[in-house]
Amino acid sequence: MSAKKIAVIIGSLRKASLNRKFAHEVMALAPESLQLEIVEIGELAVYNEDLEGDGVTPPQAWTQFRDRMKEYEGVLFFTPEYNRSTTAALKNALDVGSRPYGHSIWSGKPAGIVSVSPGATGAFGANHHLRQSLVFLDMPTLLQPEAYIGGAAKLLGDDGKINNDSTKQFLKKFIDTYATWVETNAKTK
Ligand SMILES: Cc1cc2nc3c(=O)[nH]c(=O)nc-3n(C[C@H](O)[C@H](O)[C@H](O)COP(=O)(O)O)c2cc1C
Repeated sequence: MSAKKIAVIIGSLRKASLNRKFAHEVMALAPESLQLEIVEIGELAVYNEDLEGDGVTPPQAWTQFRDRMKEYEGVLFFTPEYNRSTTAALKNALDVGSRPYGHSIWSGKPAGIVSVSPGATGAFGANHHLRQSLVFLDMPTLLQPEAYIGGAAKLLGDDGKINNDSTKQFLKKFIDTYATWVETNAKTK
């Protein structure tokens, strides 16, 4: 059985992002049944309906993103929390991928969410606001285990790697369960 191609989307655009570091760590823990690749979202212009339709050519970055996302059978999101929600960058990527109407690149793709924050609540608010959009986008989203990574800065060493076994074991369980979720929920081509 060939590995399922999964897009990893990181809601933070900053270079030293904790979410990006955790994304790399989770990718390293993933079973062989998943082929995880980061898809960048930082170049996507803010969604504006005037920039496409009725003979208007959409921004190239939108088209490239939509075309690339068609290659993937699932999506694993890493989200920071900005003001108790997900980031504008991640919401924008969802909006860009959801249009043109009727041609959403998200529909039916099994999703997983890891929310990461240096704060105590593990970006719970972001995680659940993101879930609200994924319901509408028709993405079956893994329920358990929930992954709220709080106090995240303290869980990483100077090398950017997870510095304790219990976090690593939890994320291994998370990504293994997500792999099973993908097998169960991926669309048959
Ligand atoms: C505009 C803004 C709003 C933020 N709001 C929250 C918040 O609501 N909850 C929280 O835990 N952290 C909040 N933070 C702090 C982020 O969790 C922190 O900057 C984190 O490192 C961002 O993720 P990253 O390291 O992946 O970039 C906020 C940061 C910014 C820039």
